[in-house]
Amino acid sequence: MSLLSQKHLLGIQDISKADIRLIFETAKQFKEVLNRPIKKVPSLRDITIANLFFENSTRTRVSFELAEKRLSADVVNFSASSSSTKKGETLIDTVNNILAMKVDMIVMRHPSPGAHAMLSKHVDAQIINAGDGTHEHPTQALLDAFSMEEKVGDLNGKNVLICGDVKHSRVALSNILCLKKLGAKVRVCGPPTLIPKYIESMGVQVSYDIKDSLAWCDIANVLRIQLERQDIKYIPSLREYSIAFGINKSLLNSLKKEIVIMHPGPMNRGVEIDSDVADSEHSIILQQVENGVAIRMAVLYLLAGKKE
Ligand code: CP
Repeated sequence: MSLLSQKHLLGIQDISKADIRLIFETAKQFKEVLNRPIKKVPSLRDITIANLFFENSTRTRVSFELAEKRLSADVVNFSASSSSTKKGETLIDTVNNILAMKVDMIVMRHPSPGAHAMLSKHVDAQIINAGDGTHEHPTQALLDAFSMEEKVGDLNGKNVLICGDVKHSRVALSNILCLKKLGAKVRVCGPPTLIPKYIESMGVQVSYDIKDSLAWCDIANVLRIQLERQDIKYIPSLREYSIAFGINKSLLNSLKKEIVIMHPGPMNRGVEIDSDVADSEHSIILQQVENGVAIRMAVLYLLAGKKE
C-alpha cells in the first residue's frame, strides 16, 4: 500500500507534491465509491477516530465524519462546549485521555495556530489538522485544488485568484502553498488592510483591483470577511466592502471570458459574493463540498497505514 511521506497532516507546508498527487489519485478512487449505491468500503475497519472540534464547523466536521463512516471506521465526536478543557485541563491531557480509550487517530479543529504541531510532539496518534486558527486548513486546500483540476485540468501555469479577507484566512494560506506546489500562478486581491505584508514573499502577486484580477484569472476562490477574528475594524463596513470587492453578475458579465467561481464556505451572500454568482453555472461551490468527502477519505486512508 502506498502511504504519505508524513505521519500527520499538520499543513500543506509539510507535504510534498508527490503526496498531493497520491492523495488526488486515491480520492478519485474513493469518489467512484461514493457514487455507487453502496457507498462504503471496509478500509478502516477496527480503526477508531476522534473528531475534536474546538471551533464551529459545518462542512469540515460533517465531511470528516462521513469520510470516516464511509471507510467503516468507528467514530467519536467531541466539541469544545462539552469539553473538560473548560475546567482547566490541558489540550495534551484531554487528547491523551481520549487516546487511552483506544482511539487511533485524531481529527482536530482548534483556534490556536500551531496547536496540532504542538500536540503531535506529545501524543502517539496521527493528527489531522481540520483548521488551526488563521494558520492552515490543509484538507480544504486539497479539496479546492482537486476541484480546480477536475474543472480545468492540470493547474501548472493556470491563473488562480484568491480574493477577500486573506489576512485572517487559513484557507488562503493553505491554498497558496498547495497551488504553488502544483505550479499554478497565484494572485491575491482585497483591501490593503486585509492583505498581509509577507504574502509577496510566498511568490504571490498582490492586487487591489478586483476587476483587473478577475480578468487575469482562470479561477477565482472567494473568501469570507472573518469579522469574528478581527479585533479592530479592517474595513469601514460590509456594505462598502461589497461595493468595492463583492463578486456580482455585472462584474462577471464585463469580462471577455468565463471564469470558474469557488468559495470554501460559509458564504455571506450579498457581501463577498452575490447569489446570482454563487448559484450560477460558473460556480463549483457544491462540487467542492462533494469532493471534500473523497479527499478526506484519501487522507485518512493513507495516514492510517502510517501507524507505527
Ligand atoms: N470550509 C470550512 O472550513 O467550513 P466549516 O467552517 O463549515 O467547516
